[in-house]
This record gives sequence, C-alpha cells and structure tokens, in this order.
Amino acid sequence: MQKIVIIMPAWNEADNISQMIEELVDREFPKIEANMYLLVVDNHSKDQEFEIVKKASETRKNVQIIQQGDKSGLGWAYISGFKYAMEKLNADAVMEMDADFQHPPRFVKPMVEAYLKGASYVIGSRYIKGGSVPQEWAFFRKAVSFFGNLFIRIVLVKPKIHDLTTGFRLTKVKGVLDKIDLDNLMEPGRFAHKVDLLYQCIKNAKKVVEVPLEFAPRVKEKSKFNTKEMVATFKVAIILGLKDKQRFIKFAFVGFAGFIVNFVFLRVFRSLGFAEVLAWAFSTEFAITNNYALNNIWTFREAKIGGFKKTAVKFLQFNATSAGALVIQSVFGPLGVALFGTKYDFLVLAFVVGFMVLPYNYFMYNAVIWKTWKLPFIDKLQKK
Ligand code: GDD
Ligand code: MN
Repeated sequence: MQKIVIIMPAWNEADNISQMIEELVDREFPKIEANMYLLVVDNHSKDQEFEIVKKASETRKNVQIIQQGDKSGLGWAYISGFKYAMEKLNADAVMEMDADFQHPPRFVKPMVEAYLKGASYVIGSRYIKGGSVPQEWAFFRKAVSFFGNLFIRIVLVKPKIHDLTTGFRLTKVKGVLDKIDLDNLMEPGRFAHKVDLLYQCIKNAKKVVEVPLEFAPRVKEKSKFNTKEMVATFKVAIILGLKDKQRFIKFAFVGFAGFIVNFVFLRVFRSLGFAEVLAWAFSTEFAITNNYALNNIWTFREAKIGGFKKTAVKFLQFNATSAGALVIQSVFGPLGVALFGTKYDFLVLAFVVGFMVLPYNYFMYNAVIWKTWKLPFIDKLQKK
C-alpha cells in the first residue's frame, strides 16, 4: 500500500488541532485506500498545541509531531516536514495541509484518489468547477485572491493550471519531491516559498491534476498571512517567470547587437571603398561571427562549445542556419510585399523577423547548435 504523509504546519493552533485529529485521522483516514499518516510540524507554539498532539499520538500510531528546527517561518516548517517524511517515514507521497479547517478533511480522499490513479502532483484547486473560496469573504478579499492568482498564472505562463497559490497539494516523492533542492528554495521563511515549490513540482511531475477544493473560512484564531507575505509571493513569481525567459531575452539582445555590428561595418567597408556586394557580405559575416561568439559565451554558456575542431564545425553549422534565416527572409519578405504592398514593407519585415526568423533561429540554436533542447528526431537526422 502507498504511504502518504500529510504535513501539517501548525503554530498556536491548540484550538483547532484536537478536533482536526479526530476528524482527519479518526474519521477520514479509514475511508482512504492508502497508508495515511499525519505529521504535525510545530514552531514552539505558545499554547497547548504540542502537548495536545503529543497526547493524541500516544494512542494513534499514525500521528506524530515534530518541531521545525531553529529557523522560523512557514517554509522552514514544510522543509523540515518534507525531509522527515522522506528520510524517516519513507513516504511515497506527501500532502500540504493547514491545521485550521480551511482545508476541510473531506477533501483529502479525492486528492489521494487522483494520486492513486497516476497523478504525480495533485493541486487542491479553488478556481475550477466544484471549488470555491469562502462565501463570507468580503468582495475585496475575493478580488485579491482571484487577481493575485491570475497574475501568477500569467507571469509563470501556466494557463492550464487554475490555482497556483493554494496551500492544499499532494506531491509524489520519487521523481518529483526528491529531485528538488529543498535547502535552496526561494523565500523559505515565508508563504512565498510555495510558488517556487509549485513551479519545480510542475516541472518534475509527469502528470499534474487539479481536484476541486471548497476553501473554508477560518473559524478559530486568525490568519498568519499578511501584505508582506503577499508581496514576497509576487516577487518569487516574477523572478521565476523572468528566469524562465532569461535565455530568450539574452538571445534577443545578442540578435540586436548583431544588427548593430552589421549596420556599422556596412558603413565602414563602404567608406573603405569596398564594392556594395562585398560590403554587405563582409559586414553580414561579421554579425554572424559576433552572434556566434556572444551566444556561446553568454546565452548558452551552460552548453559552451570549446576546442578548435568543435568550434570550426559548429561555426560552419551556425553559418548554415544563418543562411537559412536569410532564405526565409528573402522568400517571405517579397511575398508579403506582393500581398500587402510596398507601403507595408516595415510591417512585413517586422512580422517576418518577429514571427519567423527569431523563432527559427531560437529553435536552431537550442536544438541543433548548442543542443539545450533534447530532441531525438534531430539527433537521428544528424546521424544520417
Ligand atoms: N509550524 C509553523 N510555523 N506553522 C505555521 C507558521 C509557522 O511559522 N505560519 C503559519 N503556520 C500554519 C498555520 O498554523 C496554519 O495551519 C497554516 O500554516 C496556514 O496558516 P494561516 O495563518 O491559516 O494562513 P492562511 O490561511 O491565511 O493562508 C492561506 O493562503 C496561503 C497562501 O496562498 C492558506 O491557503 C495557505 O495554505 C496558503 O499557503
Ligand atoms: Mn488559514
């Protein structure tokens, strides 16, 4: 049977925790076809929380409480919990769940079922059919939650996932959680670490599934989430979003630098008295060389090409792909002008460069030259 450990950070939750254990462990766990375990992670609560859980664990073999260690903040609680679940409890999967009944225990079962059916990452989602946020929330609070979530969804380019800030999730250990460097999560002291975690889990998971969650209002105690936490959450999302596009941004810069080199040297060669054709040919080759060198040491530095022979071969290939770009431009440029008229030549050029040449180059560099994208059919083609 699969062992699933629910990691429940709880801080001054004495008012909630004993009822939570009764509802979750005593009433819900027996309905689930997995080996369920509750791991509460305390942060030296000032109330009776620790004693209450300790006592409950004496009569239940699948309940345990640990302290989160000397670093405070929600992320560290989860990190301690994840490590404990993997190393000490041999969990096959872990769940993130709050102690304050905002994640009603009845929603655990459908999450586990999605996992047992083959999902490696399950998201308890408030923004899909069947899911909801508390009705009693004021309009403003609803709007903040909705638009905050939408913003992160756009920044991270995750149109298929509807709830990126939920705190109710299930993660398979093998291949997903165990591939993540937990000690170096972004903003580990804050709620914001959840965005980094989600981002990495989605990257690792073969199958991501969303299951509806009716997010309940908090009844007892008050929320530990605040504006500072929210700002940090957006910050993490923006950084992750930019990192993802970093290579493309560098590639665009290099392309622009190449354009300048081309333009400047065209004038230089002309002024030196070169024939027009030669001035174009030489300045273009200068631009190509510039682009190859800059991309090699900057854009694709993780895949840098060194050595004389390799450089020679790759540089020739690079020239061939550049010639390909030239062909695209000299076919579709005139075609566009023929269709729309000379009046629109600037738009045609912008379209051909922006939507054809740039994607073509970016693809060729990643797939053929620096091979940062592993595409089996390209390897096969090259062997022939
Ligand atoms: N051990 C520990 N240490 N637990 C903590 C800490 C901490 O520093 N801070 C908060 N917790 C526990 C709380 O006791 C609760 O069980 C859970 O973490 C969530 O905290 P709340 O204070 O209830 O936060 P919330 O309901 O406002 O947060 C909601 O939004 C977050 C961001 O989107 C929930 O949905 C969270 O799950 C979600 O991450
Ligand atoms: Mn809460």
